[in-house]
Amino acid sequence: MIGVFDSGLGGLSVLDALVTALPRADITYFADTAHVPYGNKEDHFIQERVLHIGSELVGQGCRLLVVACNTATAAAVESLRRRFPNVPVVGVEPGVKPAAHASRSRRIAILATESTARSDRLARLIRDHAGHCNVHVEACPGWATRVEHLQLHGADLEADARGRLTPLLDAGVDQVVLGCTHYGFLRPLLESVTAGRAELVDVASAVAQQARRLARDSAEGHGRLRFEASAAPERVLAALPALGLQRLAARTELAGKRG
Ligand code: DGL
Repeated sequence: MIGVFDSGLGGLSVLDALVTALPRADITYFADTAHVPYGNKEDHFIQERVLHIGSELVGQGCRLLVVACNTATAAAVESLRRRFPNVPVVGVEPGVKPAAHASRSRRIAILATESTARSDRLARLIRDHAGHCNVHVEACPGWATRVEHLQLHGADLEADARGRLTPLLDAGVDQVVLGCTHYGFLRPLLESVTAGRAELVDVASAVAQQARRLARDSAEGHGRLRFEASAAPERVLAALPALGLQRLAARTELAGKRG
């Protein structure tokens, strides 16, 4: 069994890619909806939640963990690996490397939560993979919460996105990295803002491929999907159609509430 988790609904974009890459795997998805968003929390709080959720999932028999959250990966993936040295852990990091590789203008932007934006891990990623580029990191407070409320459109959100992106596009940015798994669900809105002037870079498929490489026995199951949440698990299921993920509902076995 594979355990996948995020602060809330954002990781469903990664889950969708995982189900495609590992169609027979049994997967439990945990949404920490009692504590979303993570992006405005301190590192030690995020670490505590990640270790708690990891223990729950390993206790249930998960033999591969996917941290479907850039913020949790930046703050806590190393602690999780130390706690469970025998369980492979796949994290999600902003697609700095593919963006830097694809950029013709050598100007890229990374959209992320406040926590990811200030993380040492992101600074290191930029240093290691985008040294030849001008990199702008833009924290986007409130965006993940909008996705949690299924507010994927709206004039105020569009104005906020336009205000942040237009100066970057005008400065020649041609790659915009979606550095938070929630932002994949804002793609239509963001594409209307970028209007073909920049490519949006998302790593969900690459993460799923990495999980596939590490899955071993976890790849073989009955293709069952189970949703758990620390608050209102039924809301995770109910959100699937609005997020364009109705196909996941057909596989779902049950939903439950857990700490
Ligand atoms: N989905 C998460 C990420 O990838 C976190 C969003 C949040 O809870 O602030 O960063």
